[in-house]
Amino acid sequence: MRLSSPSILRSAFRDGVIMSLLEVENVSKHFGGVMAVNNVSLTLDQGEIVGLIGPNGAGKSTLFNLISGVIKPDTGAIRFETRDITPTAPDRVCQYGIARTFQLVRPFNQLSPLQNVMVGRVYGSAPAKTMKQARHESEEILSLTGLADKKVRMAGMLGLVDRKRLEIARALATRPKLLLLDEMMTGLNLTEMAAAIALIKGIRDSGITLIVVEHVMKVIMGISDRIIVLNVGEKIADGSPRKVANNRKVIEAYLGEKPLC
Ligand SMILES: Nc1ncnc2c1ncn2[C@@H]1O[C@H](COP(=O)(O)OP(=O)(O)O)[C@@H](O)[C@H]1O
Ligand SMILES: [Mg+2]
Repeated sequence: MRLSSPSILRSAFRDGVIMSLLEVENVSKHFGGVMAVNNVSLTLDQGEIVGLIGPNGAGKSTLFNLISGVIKPDTGAIRFETRDITPTAPDRVCQYGIARTFQLVRPFNQLSPLQNVMVGRVYGSAPAKTMKQARHESEEILSLTGLADKKVRMAGMLGLVDRKRLEIARALATRPKLLLLDEMMTGLNLTEMAAAIALIKGIRDSGITLIVVEHVMKVIMGISDRIIVLNVGEKIADGSPRKVANNRKVIEAYLGEKPLC
């Protein structure tokens, strides 16, 4: 199936120069006395899987909240396909093509997985034109995410693994160009993790760019084209998995935690 329209495979151009899909420029956000995100800049190219890592409280989820418009930065700017989305409301950001999952999954529990995904298909960045089309495409997304045989039971009755799958399915239903995945693999066993990795790679192969937050280092090092590391709100490294794993600041930030590889 096609998860994305051909237009998303085009790079953003300005004056004949290929622009980044996403640009975060000097963004800061504080909560009271806590600098959750401190002067962070990053760029994202079309088709990348970027791993976003950092110890607990580093600011990863806050950065996702900022990119998806859920919260607004104190300072700095966020551009998507060259458009300034810094002041943009989250529903509009979603329509522009940025979807995200939440660390604490929150589907509509009273609806079935099929209904949950259909909500996304009639909303998002390229809404289905008819309910029939929305249903058909939603069923395809449920197959892709391994939920085809559970599509009509109540979402609230699903186990954790299936609820995480549904969270990804709901995000895909909005036809994103950029997908932000926040700790989707916590609590998965090895087989489930392998399936999740295959799903992430499949999503990328369909033309969608991803930022993936994960604590399982082997997984993040294996799937990411590039890794960005946050520590206490600041970006301390940005580069290939190998380069980042050997970075002194990164090793120090993770002291006391499990080794990176
Ligand atoms: N809504 C909030 N109100 C107050 N503090 C927050 C809020 N969200 C995050 N924080 C704080 O900001 C810091 C970064 O949190 P978070 O982005 O959730 O980190 P991570 O996802 O990397 O674990 C933490 O110190 C956290 O307690
Ligand atoms: Mg988090």
